[in-house]
Amino acid sequence: MVAARITVNGKETPISPAAPHTTVLDFLRERGLTGTKEGCAEGECGACSVLVARPGVHKPTDWVAVNACLVPVAALDGQEVVTSEGLATAGEPGMPATLHPVQEEMAVRGGSQCGYCTPGFICSMASEYYRPGRCAHADVDSDSDSALASADCTDSEHGPNGFDLHALSGNLCRCTGYRPIRDAAFAVGAPAEDDALAQRREQSPPEPAATEYTQDDSAFLRPSTLADALRLLRERPGAVVVAGSTDWGVEVNIRSRRANCVVAVDRLPEMRELRVESDHIEIGAALTLTEIERRLDGSVPLLAELFPQFASRLIRNSATLGGNLGTGSPIGDSPPVLLALEASVVLADADGEREVPLSDYFTGYRQSVRRPGELIRAVRVPLPLSPVVGFHKIAKRRFDDISSVAVAFALGIEDGIVRKARIGLGGVAATPIRALAAEAALEGKPWAVETVEAAARVLRAQGTPMDDHRASAGYRSAMLGQSLLKLYAQTTEAVSS
Ligand code: FES
Ligand code: FES
Repeated sequence: MVAARITVNGKETPISPAAPHTTVLDFLRERGLTGTKEGCAEGECGACSVLVARPGVHKPTDWVAVNACLVPVAALDGQEVVTSEGLATAGEPGMPATLHPVQEEMAVRGGSQCGYCTPGFICSMASEYYRPGRCAHADVDSDSDSALASADCTDSEHGPNGFDLHALSGNLCRCTGYRPIRDAAFAVGAPAEDDALAQRREQSPPEPAATEYTQDDSAFLRPSTLADALRLLRERPGAVVVAGSTDWGVEVNIRSRRANCVVAVDRLPEMRELRVESDHIEIGAALTLTEIERRLDGSVPLLAELFPQFASRLIRNSATLGGNLGTGSPIGDSPPVLLALEASVVLADADGEREVPLSDYFTGYRQSVRRPGELIRAVRVPLPLSPVVGFHKIAKRRFDDISSVAVAFALGIEDGIVRKARIGLGGVAATPIRALAAEAALEGKPWAVETVEAAARVLRAQGTPMDDHRASAGYRSAMLGQSLLKLYAQTTEAVSS
């Protein structure tokens, strides 16, 4: 097996002697690439953002921004990384480097004061700069000031150059203020013809490397097939399974947890398929949320409502549905939505597969029917979809936050009668749950204010919400009822408008 190595800013570098748990952030900084900063070490500030060459959705390769503080460097064996230092073009000896267009715009528009957050913003911004299709409907040939002045924004979160501000939802700045940063984002043009990173998108991304990176008594292992992974998990049932490492990375950094064996499953081809069949959609458990979002392109409206509210773009670029379900958190964002969609999980072990409805999957606080040695291989969403949907995440911040309560609705309404109601709840019990009593209070009744108010009273009594630092039990209950009233108001507004 080839020694583990990583290509950083075009230069191949051995990963050894880094420990298997060493993050990409620490690895880079120890090698002098100190543009990549540590702010929080838990995926919430984006100061550590770097670019990774990943399989593309619309081109062979996408430049994807990820949180370097969460990803073990061993997970990028054989991969290509670009840091903020690598975006600028080196000048002749004795001459200054030429700034990358996003760096140039941040500089001239005052997007940086103390500069601590800036390299992270630059990398997130560069990822969006290179997103294929960003410029499709935008006037990016005009000079940037006139583009800025144009009122051609499709909405408040997209610039006249097609720049999606959600790309920066995982980056925090505490001293500049966001308007100049937004100005810089909305001013960048299209990549030049000879832009090396733009050209790199036309080539295949690096193949995932089968990795066995060991040191002393700890190991980071990346099997290359699902069969190998399942065999490995049978041999080592205590291994920690990671995909995007957005949860395990926090455990390593904040709680100082270490594992003897970490098994990475995020590049397994068998877990990265997305198939639309006649009666269901199968979503590979190791696809990132960004990949699912872009590949489904709004065709599952309830998932389309979920994605922008799930953490941040930086997290969604690594996080997976398998990971979100695998942790079993009662406040994960995807379970309420998947419960409302009546999804099931496909569990695989070395003996075969079984399909379990998600409503039977959770058994207790962070517990599930998943057995040692089993992996979530895929999530299945049955078709047809119910047409009236809503996902209401109640949290203290609009983006990049943990929910106090989350409610997902999927209703089938025909001739004014609720034929089918499915409601998924998060944050009101030890596990995500279906609101069965509220569903029954809706089904067979007219979709009318009297029905909705009665069902909202039932919904408020569902679950066993607690008081904690995020919200009181009373607030959580109240929000359940309000969510249904809000959904009703949204549907009636849509009809009357
Ligand atoms: Fe804050 Fe990585 S250091 S997200
Ligand atoms: Fe100081 Fe953003 S420029 S934190």
